[in-house]
Amino acid sequence: MEQFDTIILGAGAAGLFCAGFAAAKGGRVLVVDHARRAAEKVRISGGGRCNFTNLHAGPENFLSANPHFAKSALARYTQWDFLDLLGRHRIGWHEKTLGQLFCDGKSQTIIDMLLAEARAAEIRLATTVDEIAHDGTGFRLTLSGRPAHARHLVVATGGKSIPKIGASGLGYRIAEQFGLPVTDTRPGLVPLTFAPQELDWIAPLAGTALEARLSANGTAFDEALLFTHRGLSGPSVLQISNYWREGDAITADLLPGRDAFAALRAARQENGRRQMQTVLATLLPARLAAALAGRWSLTGNLADQPDTALAALADRLHALTLKPTGSEGYRTAEVTLGGVDTAGLSSKTMEAPPLPGLFFIGEVVDVTGWLGGYNFQWAWASAAAAGRAI
Ligand code: FDA
Repeated sequence: MEQFDTIILGAGAAGLFCAGFAAAKGGRVLVVDHARRAAEKVRISGGGRCNFTNLHAGPENFLSANPHFAKSALARYTQWDFLDLLGRHRIGWHEKTLGQLFCDGKSQTIIDMLLAEARAAEIRLATTVDEIAHDGTGFRLTLSGRPAHARHLVVATGGKSIPKIGASGLGYRIAEQFGLPVTDTRPGLVPLTFAPQELDWIAPLAGTALEARLSANGTAFDEALLFTHRGLSGPSVLQISNYWREGDAITADLLPGRDAFAALRAARQENGRRQMQTVLATLLPARLAAALAGRWSLTGNLADQPDTALAALADRLHALTLKPTGSEGYRTAEVTLGGVDTAGLSSKTMEAPPLPGLFFIGEVVDVTGWLGGYNFQWAWASAAAAGRAI
């Protein structure tokens, strides 16, 4: 039986980062992953340039059944700590938009840094986790048929999104095995899909994008909205998907920050002989203007429209109601909402108090960030919390 101080399940963002902290304590650390390559999600993240954190990351950017849970870990390992680390590794970065920080080079530079930080740990890839048990002194595992034992077990197996590159429900099963509660899980940061009658006007607009304010259940995001063959995507849709529940409608303000009524009245005064669709096309992408003019039966000249009609049209432009029927699911979702219930974990250490030595970090925990580098910041912060406590 091989003896370790710590076994970490998952060589992803959180697992590798935790390994560096844990190994710095001097104990023997093993990181295990069933995938052939470490940190595949880091590799594909941010369009290949890894949006590794966000300048504005704070607890308010995360969803969890307990919104206070993430505070301690986020405060003790911040975006500035991660930037210091990048500085020590001489990795160049830039802000793209809204505080989102990306590598100047490829995501591989982040993976190389994680591997360098974890160099004192042993990493075994293409290794399956066959069995786990607690024997009173620690955890007894069977890894690809070989027995191993560790005082600490860190579960960093991530969520369910993108099963094609290694996602599995192992972390949730381990929590359940040891009697820890798991909240309902669902795909997050995911494109939304629509019933055929809505798709009839949405799908022909595939490729059209505009800045919009999407809101659902009291939360709103001002970012790009993209029409696709399957429904709606783009940053504003991914963001609002975290707050949308089946059966809910979402509201799209197609002219955020503008006064549509004033713009329509000014257009009428300037040249009332223009067709309604032509005027809409001065405010929105032309294909969207044509689709909405058809849907709303906007005919005639602008001069024919009384103020009441322009006000009603302005209201529609500021509050277009959309009723998604579902999402594209884990196949394309960037994250999993829900997970190991924070009620069963210490917010300072990520340890499960009922079973000392058992830790859950990263996406497997019921803490989910917005789009924009927040999910990696949670991976770093929760990994540091556990790694320092081991
Ligand atoms: P992660 O998924 O990184 O690692 C889990 C590891 O566990 C994997 O290596 C997996 O193979 C392994 N594992 C799973 N089941 C196992 C089993 N049964 N046995 C052994 N090993 C197992 N976030 C962000 O902040 N900025 C961004 O730019 C992006 N971009 C992005 C793009 C895409 C396409 C996706 C899908 C996701 C993102 N994300 C993101 C989200 C981000 O990738 C995610 O939140 C973190 O990778 C979570 O880190 P973890 O270490 O918790 O899981």
